[in-house]
Amino acid sequence: MEKPPSHPAAVLQAIASNLVIEERKTPLPGPGDILVRNHAIAINPVDWKRQAWGVLIPSFPVILGADISGTVVKVGESVTAFKPGDRVLGFADAFATHNHDRAAFQEYTVISATSTALLPENITFKQGATLPTAVATASMALFDVLGLPREAAENSGTSVLIWGGGSSVGSMAIQLARLAGLKVYAAASERQHKRLRGLGSSFLVDYSSPTAAADVISAADRAGDDIAFAVDAISTADSLAPVVGVVSKSTSPKKKIARTLGAWPEGVVLPDGVETQHILGNEFTSRRVDLSVWMCHDVLPKWLERGELVPQEQNVVGGGVGALQRGLDVLKEGAGSEKAVVEL
Ligand SMILES: NC(=O)c1ccc[n+]([C@@H]2O[C@H](COP(=O)([O-])OP(=O)(O)OC[C@H]3O[C@@H](n4cnc5c(N)ncnc54)[C@H](OP(=O)(O)O)[C@@H]3O)[C@@H](O)[C@H]2O)c1
Repeated sequence: MEKPPSHPAAVLQAIASNLVIEERKTPLPGPGDILVRNHAIAINPVDWKRQAWGVLIPSFPVILGADISGTVVKVGESVTAFKPGDRVLGFADAFATHNHDRAAFQEYTVISATSTALLPENITFKQGATLPTAVATASMALFDVLGLPREAAENSGTSVLIWGGGSSVGSMAIQLARLAGLKVYAAASERQHKRLRGLGSSFLVDYSSPTAAADVISAADRAGDDIAFAVDAISTADSLAPVVGVVSKSTSPKKKIARTLGAWPEGVVLPDGVETQHILGNEFTSRRVDLSVWMCHDVLPKWLERGELVPQEQNVVGGGVGALQRGLDVLKEGAGSEKAVVEL
C-alpha cells in the first residue's frame, strides 16, 4: 500500500523545551481552505512567549506559528480565488482553532482562502512571510478597535498616534493609516525615522526622549491637529504612559487607545474619558472575516505590486523547519525591528 504523503514539522512537546522535528501526515484542504507548500515562515514575539511560558496553549504537543508564504498545492471545495501554483501569503490560524494542520511551523499548512492573498511577482517569499500578523494586527487596531473608516475620504483631518512605529505591527499601522488617509504621528528610535517618514509618518519623535509626549502634543497644537486615537504597538508602562498623556489632551468626546498587550501595566493611570482596548489580531480570521477578505483579496496584492505598502526588512535566521528554534531564540534575546524569517 502506498504511504500517505507526509512532511516535517517543528513540534513543541512541553513548556520551555526546544522544538523537535517530526514527520506529520500532510492534510487535504477542506471546503474554503487551501493547502500551501511553505517557502518562508516568519516568527513573531508571541511564538517565543508561548514556547517559554506555555501561554495560550491548551495542551501539548503543539505547533506554533502564524505567518507563511508559499505555493498553493491544492484548493478545497468552493475556493475560486486561488489555484495550484499560485504564489500566496497567508495567516495560519492554529493559534485560535488549535488545529495543528493550520499552524505555520511546518512544510505544509492549511489556511483559509479568506485570509490568503496573492503575492505579486515583485515580492519575494521571505518578504511575503513578514506580512500576515502585522497586517492582521494593524488592520484590527485601526479599523476594528479604533473603529476608523477604511476609506481615505472619510478620514480627512483625522490624526492617529502610532507608538513603537519601528516594530513590525507599528510600521504596518503607519502604512495602513497613511493609505486610509489619516495623518500619522509616530514614536520610534531615531535610527528608524528616515524609514518611517518614507512609510507615511508626518511627525516623528524618539521614544527615549523625556519630552517625547510633550513634543507630540506641541507639534499637533502647532499644526492644529487633535490626536484622539492611538495604536500602542509596545503597550508596556514605558509606552502607555506617554500615549495616555498625548490622547488625554484631545478635545474629542471619543478618545481611544488600541494596545497590543492584554495586561494593563501597574502605575499607569487611565484618565476618565480615555478608552483602551486590547487588539486581538487573530480575530481578523474569525470575527472580522469581512476585513480580512477586503484586505487580502481587494487591496493588499495591489498595494504590494505598486509599492504602496512595503514589507518589514527581514533577518533570515536559517533554512528549513529545523531553523525555527534559532528564530525563536533570536527573538527571545531581543531582536531589532527586522522580522526573523526561515526559508524553506
Ligand atoms: N495583540 C495582538 O494580536 C498582537 C499581534 C502581534 C504582536 N503583538 C505584540 O505586539 C508587540 C510588538 O510585536 P512586533 O512583532 O511588532 O514587535 P517587533 O517588531 O519585534 O518590535 C521590535 C521593535 O519594537 C520597538 N520598541 C521596543 N521597545 C519600545 C518602546 N518602549 N517604545 C517604542 N518602541 C519600542 C523597537 O523599535 P526601535 O528600533 O524604534 O527601537 C524594536 O525594533 C509584541 O509584544 C507582540 O507580542 C500582539
